[in-house]
Amino acid sequence: MASNEEQYVIRGGKRLEGEVVIAGAKNAALGILAAAVMTDDKVTIENVPYVSDTRTLLKAIENIGASVKYLDKHTVEICGKGIREGQPVDDEYIRRIRASYYLIGALLGKHKYANVALPGGCDIGSRPIDLHIKGFEKLGAKTEIVSGGSIIAQAEELHGAHIYLDTVSVGATINIMMAAALSPGKTTIENAAKEPHIVDVANFLNTMGANIKGAGTDVIRVRGVDKLHGAEYSIIPDQIEAGTFMAMTVATRGNVLIKNVIPKHLEAISSKLVEMGAHVIEYDDSVRVMADGILKSTHIKTLPYPGFPTDMQAQMAAILALADGTSIVTESIFENRFRYVAELARMGAKIRVEGNSAIITGIKKYNGATLKASDLRAGAALVIAALSANGVSTIQDIQYIKRGYEDFDEKVSSLGGMMKLAKTEQDVQRNKLEMASNL
Ligand code: UD1
Repeated sequence: MASNEEQYVIRGGKRLEGEVVIAGAKNAALGILAAAVMTDDKVTIENVPYVSDTRTLLKAIENIGASVKYLDKHTVEICGKGIREGQPVDDEYIRRIRASYYLIGALLGKHKYANVALPGGCDIGSRPIDLHIKGFEKLGAKTEIVSGGSIIAQAEELHGAHIYLDTVSVGATINIMMAAALSPGKTTIENAAKEPHIVDVANFLNTMGANIKGAGTDVIRVRGVDKLHGAEYSIIPDQIEAGTFMAMTVATRGNVLIKNVIPKHLEAISSKLVEMGAHVIEYDDSVRVMADGILKSTHIKTLPYPGFPTDMQAQMAAILALADGTSIVTESIFENRFRYVAELARMGAKIRVEGNSAIITGIKKYNGATLKASDLRAGAALVIAALSANGVSTIQDIQYIKRGYEDFDEKVSSLGGMMKLAKTEQDVQRNKLEMASNL
């Protein structure tokens, strides 16, 4: 059975309690794993989340000649020496992940030539890469889209440049920073994105010998160096996985200690949960989330960091749908990020989408239903809703969810939630019966 036939079977109603350890940040890992091939030396990366997006990217860099060795489940040793210059990056998997675009910046910087299949990823609206291309061209590259849907970026020589990003873009900031690290001269990226994973990729590049200053502010300055060298590096915790468990705890009126996090990165999420009536206690590298009783409505607008992350929009809507009163969620980064609304409606949610806002009228409880994940974070929102619902739900198309959540069912189960990964239809039916008889 193909993996996209797997389903989650979830019985709602259990309060989540206990401790959960958050994995490394997927979006930082994707930048860092791509950047790792920019040196011919060996690089060891720790805290790599074991999710399908990182495994797909690692397969792609292995396919072009890099050596990739898992030292343990979360530690990967990469050596980019064997990469064949000019080799196109293209396989049936790489087109499915958005972050394949990081190989353009990494290979352009290293070899002055990159030929990479155009990115896929979650269908959450138009996701152009014009800003990435504009940046590469300013650094001296010529780019063309060739038949078959790949992009070629190449240069005789790269050079530092002054680059202003018209829109704050995480991907363009990281990609340009990577290519600029090996472009002689001084590059300034203005209106840069400030997400924690931008700082993480910059720190990693600096550990490899790059000279990047200002990551985490909106002006990043890069002094190009001749070459990068080997390094050991540990990836920051995943802010969105942490936020998802925080929302899930609130949905089930639970009490969970969420470990291996950087509380500062969670501030936008924590403050919204507190507005809703939850308690969030911050420790050095963990947060405790507790909720009971009635949740209060609130309004959320997604914005670039340090604003509220678009990658938590769906999960928050799933709990606002259970809050007393009317909440408005405004999506200002992507166009098509309300596809989960129709699924939540099948569980009883009252949500109306108007333009880029969702107007949510709280209900008391969801009812279990047969659901489909439309993208990664939409899928996470359905898991949250199902864990707090009356009865049993099944979620199909969980290949999207597995892109970004490591051992999701196991982590939820360890907190007392009833969530099983079913590999076959028979498995689904068996789990449904078992869970229903437990009602
Ligand atoms: C990254 C994250 C994704 C997150 C998003 C916003 C990865 C692999 N993915 O996606 O999880 O939801 O940041 O925090 O890290 N844009 C352009 N032209 C471009 C690039 C972007 O117009 O060349 C626009 C996009 O359409 C979007 C906005 O800029 O409206 C922000 O996108 P961007 O920050 O680039 O998102 P991604 O890097 O694709």
